[in-house]
Amino acid sequence: MSRKNQTLGEFIIENQSSFKYSSGELSSLLNSIRLAAKVVNHEVNKAGLVDIIGAAGDTNIQGEDQQKLDVYANDKFIQTLTKRNIVCGIASEEEDDFITINSQDENHQNKYVVLIDPLDGSSNIDVNVSVGTIFSIYRRVTPVGTPVQLEDFLQKGSEQVAAGYVVYGTSTMLVYTTGDGVNGFTLNPAIGSFYLSHPAMEFPEDGSIYSVNEGNYIHFPQGIKNYIKFCQEENESENRPYTSRYIGSLVSDFHRNMIKGGIYMYPQSLKNPEGKLRLLYECNPMAFLAEQAKGKSSDGFTRTLDVVPTELHQRIPFICGSKNMVEKAESFMQKEK
Ligand code: AHG
Ligand code: MN
Ligand code: MN
Repeated sequence: MSRKNQTLGEFIIENQSSFKYSSGELSSLLNSIRLAAKVVNHEVNKAGLVDIIGAAGDTNIQGEDQQKLDVYANDKFIQTLTKRNIVCGIASEEEDDFITINSQDENHQNKYVVLIDPLDGSSNIDVNVSVGTIFSIYRRVTPVGTPVQLEDFLQKGSEQVAAGYVVYGTSTMLVYTTGDGVNGFTLNPAIGSFYLSHPAMEFPEDGSIYSVNEGNYIHFPQGIKNYIKFCQEENESENRPYTSRYIGSLVSDFHRNMIKGGIYMYPQSLKNPEGKLRLLYECNPMAFLAEQAKGKSSDGFTRTLDVVPTELHQRIPFICGSKNMVEKAESFMQKEK
């Protein structure tokens, strides 16, 4: 039985014994993520103090400037997972191609791949606003003991074994699911341990917060424009107009909406015809968490977790949050089809 003062380490051990994949590999994997999260947290917390902020000078495959902390977080997560010989492959927002992990041990049976956005919301680092890490875990589909292939990463989101995020906020939290609900753990920085603080997290069925970059309004599809107008209309019995909240860190916007009830939207636009967010390491893990927390996620027409990926860095329109709100937004989208 989970209890509120349980540490994340204890929780992983306890829940792993009854878990359907019981080799211990998933526990080790989650523990590695826990460790890397603490190291990255330490660095994020002093971002204002040291000369680590600002563009590193590189440009990633999406043509975006990399911040130094993106590179640092990327390295830490990859190092932790590689050195401990826990997974057979990693794909990251910051790497053009996936990384193959060739074990020295010829008997190795590593069967999981990890997809990661090491630092989400990185434009917020310079201004001391919450950022995050997003991760997604699958069982490989090609045989164990052989090098991983692209198809191991291009699986539908519904195949995820686990997913989660770390939010480096006013408190640092790690929130994850292994397909049996969503649990949130808060880091006690004095002790360096995550404690179960938010057991069985759920989106309220309805909410009154909408989160979207309204600066792009003019370029949005008509259905989204109409839904935004609906959010702004006066209707006392339905608690409208809703409140607008947009941090610009998906992790933080999602986290707030899950606790308070709300909807996050990053639709397609003239500027980003496929949307902006990446299917494999942003939308799918969040969609898995949302569904496990009784919320919903789609592009307005298709359930996010049903989309068949074709590329590692694929983008997709994303609508995610409280069930009734997402369904309402979908109905506006579908009316304009
Ligand atoms: P990343 O920092 O990993 O590139 O992700 C940023 C994403 C997401 O976190 C956020 O919700 C969105 O981009 C913000 O985009 P806009 O600035 O276009 O609103
Ligand atoms: Mn991101
Ligand atoms: Mn990122």
